[in-house]
Amino acid sequence: MILTDGEKKMLDGAEGEAVRMAMELLVSLGNAYGADKLVQISSAHVLAVYPHVEASPEVMEKFANAGGKFRVTTTVDPGHNEKNFDKWPEFKEPEKLKHNSIRLARAVEGMGAIPTWSCTPYYQGNLPRKGEYIAWTESSAISFANSVLGARTNRTTIGVDLASAITGRTPYFGLLLDENRRGNAKVVLEKQPKNMYDYNLLGYIIGKNLSDKVPVIVGLPETTTSNQLKVLGAAAAGSGAIALYHAIGITPEAETEEKAFGGNKPEIEMKIGQKEISEAEADINTYQSGEIDAVLIGCPHPTIGELVELAQMIRGRKVIEGIKFCLFVSSDVLMLARRMGIEQILVQAGVDIFEGDCILFCPAKTWGWKNIVTNSAKYANLLPSDPTYFNVLFTDMKGCVEKGTV
Ligand code: F3S
Repeated sequence: MILTDGEKKMLDGAEGEAVRMAMELLVSLGNAYGADKLVQISSAHVLAVYPHVEASPEVMEKFANAGGKFRVTTTVDPGHNEKNFDKWPEFKEPEKLKHNSIRLARAVEGMGAIPTWSCTPYYQGNLPRKGEYIAWTESSAISFANSVLGARTNRTTIGVDLASAITGRTPYFGLLLDENRRGNAKVVLEKQPKNMYDYNLLGYIIGKNLSDKVPVIVGLPETTTSNQLKVLGAAAAGSGAIALYHAIGITPEAETEEKAFGGNKPEIEMKIGQKEISEAEADINTYQSGEIDAVLIGCPHPTIGELVELAQMIRGRKVIEGIKFCLFVSSDVLMLARRMGIEQILVQAGVDIFEGDCILFCPAKTWGWKNIVTNSAKYANLLPSDPTYFNVLFTDMKGCVEKGTV
C-alpha cells in the first residue's frame, strides 16, 4: 500500500501511540483487501457495544488510554445506556454488564464522540453528501449512507471504526470504488409499497433473496420518503448483508437504470408481487399463539414525526398489564418529544422509553419474554435468533398499539 509522507509518520508513531496503533490496523486491513492507498474520510460512526464481552471495553480503552482523539465528525450508535439500567425493579441487571457499558461510554465520549447514541446519525447532524468517503458501522446506517445519501462506506467493523475516526483515514477498497457500487441484481416491483409496513417487508424480501448483491429496484413510487428508505435499507441489511441498493429515480446514483447498472448486466432478476409478499409474511412471523410479553418500537430509531403518530394512536389508552411496551429512541428526538408533550402522553400510557439504546444490547434474555410484537422487520428477523429466541409478530405501528394497549 502506498502511504503519503504524513501517513508514514503516523505509522511510525510521530503522532502518538493511538494513531500508530490505528494506522497499523488500517494498513493491515488495506493490505488484506488489496487496497493500494488510504483515503481521507469526512465522518465516522462508531460502535461502543457488547458490554457482556470483556474485550469490547478493553479495545475501546486501549485506544482512549493511548491518547486517541477522533479527528473527524464521529457519532456513536446505540449502546446499553446507563439511563436505562434496571428499568424494571423485578429484573436486576448484571453488575458487570452495567460496569462495562459505562466503561465503553466514558472511553468513546472521551475520544470525542458526539453522544448521539443512535443508529440514525444522519438525522443528528452526521450528514455526508454524495461521493464523500466515510467510515460507518451499523448495518442500517451503512445502508442509508451508501444508498440514500450516496456517501461511500464499507461495512466498517468494531476497532476499524475507531482506527478510522482516530486517523481520519480508511483503506480504499470495496464500496469506496465505482466498480463495486454498480448494480448487479434487478428487482422489479409488481406492487408498489404504500406505507412503512410495506417498505419494511420489501427490504426483508430483498435481503433474504439478494444477500451479497447490489440490488437495483425498479418501480418505487416517486413519493417514497427518506424514512421509508430507512426501514427498507434496515430490513434488507438485517435479513441479508446489503450495504448498498439503488432505487431508480429515487436514490442519488440511480437517475436511470443505465446509470445504476453502470454497464453491468444483472446477474439475477426478481419480481416482487403479492405471492412473494405473502410468503415473506409467513416467513417473518414466528409467533403462533400465547400471551404477548412485549411490544418493541424504534428499530431503526424513529423520527419525531413517527413519535407524533405514535402519540396520536396511544393517547387515552393504557399498556395492558403484563406487557412491556418499549420505545427505543435517540436523545435528541426524545428531547423534542418532551418539549411537545409527547413523552408525557407515552409515559402516561405506560410506555417504557429507552433513550439511546437498542434491545440487542439490553439483557433481554433475562427478562423471560417469549412472544413479542414489533413494527420493525429488522427486529423481527434478528430477535428469533440467538441470544433471544423470541417468537415475533410483525405488524405496523397501529398493530403494535392495538396488541399492546387497551
Ligand atoms: Fe438501531 Fe438496534 Fe435496530 S442499532 S437499527 S435499533 S437493531
